[in-house]
Amino acid sequence: MLAGIPPATIGASIAEIDTPALVLDLDAFERNVATMTTAVRGSGARLRPHAKSHKCPEIAKRQIKAGAIGICCQKVSEAEAFVDAGIRDVLVTNEIVGAAKVRRLAHLARRARIAVCVDDARNVAELSAAANEAGVVIDALVEINVGANRCGVEPGEPALALVRAIKAAPFLRYAGIHAYQGSAQHLRAVADRRAAIDRASAAARKTKELLAHYRIPCETITGAGTGSFMFEAASDVYNELQPGSYIFMDADYNANAWDGFPRFEQSLFVFTSVMSTPTRDRIVVDAGLKASSTDSGLPVVTGWPGLEYTKASDEHGVVRVADTARLPALGEQLRLIPGHCDPTVNLYDWMVCVRKERVEAVWPISARGAVR
Ligand SMILES: Cc1ncc(COP(=O)(O)O)c(C=O)c1O
Repeated sequence: MLAGIPPATIGASIAEIDTPALVLDLDAFERNVATMTTAVRGSGARLRPHAKSHKCPEIAKRQIKAGAIGICCQKVSEAEAFVDAGIRDVLVTNEIVGAAKVRRLAHLARRARIAVCVDDARNVAELSAAANEAGVVIDALVEINVGANRCGVEPGEPALALVRAIKAAPFLRYAGIHAYQGSAQHLRAVADRRAAIDRASAAARKTKELLAHYRIPCETITGAGTGSFMFEAASDVYNELQPGSYIFMDADYNANAWDGFPRFEQSLFVFTSVMSTPTRDRIVVDAGLKASSTDSGLPVVTGWPGLEYTKASDEHGVVRVADTARLPALGEQLRLIPGHCDPTVNLYDWMVCVRKERVEAVWPISARGAVR
């Protein structure tokens, strides 16, 4: 359910955008989409971008038009929003556990190709039973732990045992291995990210070889994020890539080193307005932590030298003004680069799309708040 009216009308100037608002620079976004297509072309790996970053069907459609084979989602309700909007190939890169969710997932598989990750034989049984009830067959990938220490069975024998369980489940189809190394993505040094993905690739390769020994092919080995995808693409094991943030970027990703990677541009901003100017060195803007996530650091003021966002409370953002900086006037609009794009997007119902200082479109963030 979309709450409230959009913060801008099509054709308006950007100065008229009501704040706080989530704003997409369309030129930069389109270049990012094209840059990723070019970067993975020729690698032999397919692109399946993660839609948890944008939660916006319009963006998913543009990614698919640019060559992506489908999308990833993290939650059933997210997948439902995208299938409702016409997306027909969704990999849920997560474990879906419990009767209600599993039933919804199986019903979704009547309308789209749905794949899901598993790391427990009890979940395999639950999924197969739900698929039977819904009259579908669901693709299942075994998630292996390649260093992030989140979900996933250990590579090698434990993965083989689970693959066998899937193959024995009558209403599941074994579809490959999920091997995402999340904790590599924000290691600042390229060499550290490369080393982490080398280790992840070795774990995935070991699993693939063990399966091959028992004549079980690995149709898909999927993983990778914005911080590492060049390494998975260059590996001889991964054949599907799931980067999400590259379309937007954020302050956390901007702090990574990027040598050897294509450079993605900042395309996502939170527009905010000055709501108070208490002192010469401190102003307050209307975007606090309910307008820009702070889990990966504070937002960064861009395009205005000498301003530093120093503190976020619920609805207030405190900005320090250097002596040398021009003091923003009451009501003046500032642009923030979010600390972390995904949870920031999840705070908004609408994405205001701008080009050359004008609002060109306003897209619904249909899967906003879809956490079940
Ligand atoms: C399973 C999975 N794949 C892909 C991604 C995409 O990563 P990024 O947004 O860093 O590109 C994530 C992000 O957390 C993820 O959890």
